[in-house]
Amino acid sequence: MALDRKNVPNDLSAFWMPFTANRQFKKDPRMLVSADGMFYKTADGRDVLDGTAGLWCCNAGHNQPRIVEAIRQQAGELDYAPAFQMGHPKAFELASALRDMAPKGMDHVFFTNSGSESVETALKIAIAYHRARGEGSRTRLIGRERGYHGVNFGGISVGGIVTNRKVFGSLLTGVDHLPHTHLPGENTFTKGQPEHGAHLADELERIVALHGAETIAAVIVEPMAGSTGVLLPPKGYLERLRELCTKHGIILIFDEVITGFGRLGSAFAADHFNVLPDLMTTAKGLTNGVIPMGAVLATGEIHDAFMQGPEHLIELFHGYTYSGNPISSAAGLATLETYREEGLFERAAAMAPYWEEALHSLKDARHVVDIRNMGLIGAIELEPIAGEPTKRAFTAFLKAYEKGILIRTTGDIIAMSPPLIIEKEHIDQLVGTLREVLEALD
Ligand SMILES: Cc1ncc(COP(=O)(O)O)c(C=O)c1O
Repeated sequence: MALDRKNVPNDLSAFWMPFTANRQFKKDPRMLVSADGMFYKTADGRDVLDGTAGLWCCNAGHNQPRIVEAIRQQAGELDYAPAFQMGHPKAFELASALRDMAPKGMDHVFFTNSGSESVETALKIAIAYHRARGEGSRTRLIGRERGYHGVNFGGISVGGIVTNRKVFGSLLTGVDHLPHTHLPGENTFTKGQPEHGAHLADELERIVALHGAETIAAVIVEPMAGSTGVLLPPKGYLERLRELCTKHGIILIFDEVITGFGRLGSAFAADHFNVLPDLMTTAKGLTNGVIPMGAVLATGEIHDAFMQGPEHLIELFHGYTYSGNPISSAAGLATLETYREEGLFERAAAMAPYWEEALHSLKDARHVVDIRNMGLIGAIELEPIAGEPTKRAFTAFLKAYEKGILIRTTGDIIAMSPPLIIEKEHIDQLVGTLREVLEALD
């Protein structure tokens, strides 16, 4: 499988690649050169089935004509407009479209450029909201073990993935963590939401007792934890967390960067679980991953707390040069239209039972110790090689790529989140290839 040299740059040294084993990659590069629908094309001319929607983001599949055309048109019409004290129509249109798609009550939209920025924005809004209401002592932030909220300082502080935190100093102060919800043994090989673990939300009471509710601004959780290896909320857990946040006047933030835009078969996880947060962070599927953009959705109550004082004054000293920029906004509008017109969220819900059965058929495959799934998301957890954690799953990733499927691994967990346009034959290909890969692994 020689690389087609005309598709591969001669010098790979300058680019310090993110979340990548750089030296391993540069010895044996895996270059994608084009994409269409469910497939990538590699530099050596192979089709690779996209089992991960890029990085959980290309929910409508690749090369979607509406989105491509919207970007083309917008670039030629209004390439950029200042984001501060000026506006352009598409950002307002997208904000309205997003509000209309979001759970009732999430009435206002603050644009960012990524999931990480959405998280920082939501944490800042939560703290500033309390201050605006005269509760300036509420500054503490509560995250959760194994949580992933991007890579900026706020996000890694409330996040709970140890490797993403431990070499970066003391992080934000005033942060505490709920326990994660993974209960192997009790919930192993559960299809959908696990039965056990709702009581873990009660740990918030312990944290409140320790610090005092009057010092706590917000709790942030992924309604379904993705990047840590797909951990589903136990039945009743999110409802309990909502209850406790309301009881103690704490803002509940759902980080919907992965779960937003149809991943679970509903527009948002908040719809799916029927639990409404106060703030929601989004990114990724907002533009089908095609162009960087994120958005924070806020309830009217939060937004309105800022809309006070003299009208000529800025209400929130926060924003980005590219907040709601014209090209991202055009891409976002075309993406939401694509989801709607092609009924992709309903499609994901309809395909979910087939996905679930196919994934769980791997229960007897070699090395498999757990399988978890919901909507069009799935995880296969492998027994680690003694003394060499992550190696078995990483080898599976490399072998899978050789055999024409793109999966993702985190620790010794294989995670999959295909585009919502996936057909049954693609699911069969993914699962069939995975079985071959697992059977051949040491
Ligand atoms: C739940 C969650 N929050 C935040 C992020 C960070 O998003 P980004 O990589 O766009 O900064 C991610 C990325 O996977 C995520 O899954």
